[in-house]
Amino acid sequence: MTLLELASKRVSCRAYDTARAIEKSVLDEVFEIARLAPSACNKQPWRLVVVKSKSKLTELAESYDRDWFKTAPMVLAVVVDHTESWHRADGKDHADVDASIFVEHLCLAAAEKGLGTCWVCNFKPEVANKVLGIDGVEKELVALVPIGYPADNSVFSKPKTRKEISEIVSEI
Ligand SMILES: Cc1cc2nc3c(=O)[nH]c(=O)nc-3n(C[C@H](O)[C@H](O)[C@H](O)COP(=O)(O)O)c2cc1C
Repeated sequence: MTLLELASKRVSCRAYDTARAIEKSVLDEVFEIARLAPSACNKQPWRLVVVKSKSKLTELAESYDRDWFKTAPMVLAVVVDHTESWHRADGKDHADVDASIFVEHLCLAAAEKGLGTCWVCNFKPEVANKVLGIDGVEKELVALVPIGYPADNSVFSKPKTRKEISEIVSEI
């Protein structure tokens, strides 16, 4: 699969096959590809919490109350440590930038393996922080990524709605 094909395949999956577990070897490779993501000053300020027990998934779903979210067999919580991330001289913290690259590596790797994912940032932080046992200040939840085999594989062929190149690229 070319990178263009993979980027076209990666899609926000909002319905998972509840009966199909993710093989450990597949998950390990997805994690390895995320681990290789670049980060500012190579600080790698990310931590990945794999939420897979029924009880924790139920608690976490209270932070993002959508029926489809509950169909995921696993949710990956991407947390950054702001005491580890690179801060530019003007103070700008690059933790979110780093975490975003990490998450997208995850999502692309998952798609390559036929797994569905969805970035979720519209969670209630105060609820999710409690479930994850983080303070939300030094350690902050950036994204929840439900992951699993899609309920319907046709999701991977969903057409993309995107701005035209001419709208986003300029030359000076
Ligand atoms: C930073 C970020 C936050 C997002 N948060 C949510 C979310 O909370 N819930 C959701 O259903 N989708 C969320 N999405 C998914 C976007 O809606 C989706 O990526 C976009 O519409 C493009 O569709 P595609 O991913 O299928 O290509 C988020 C995506 C990004 C990159």
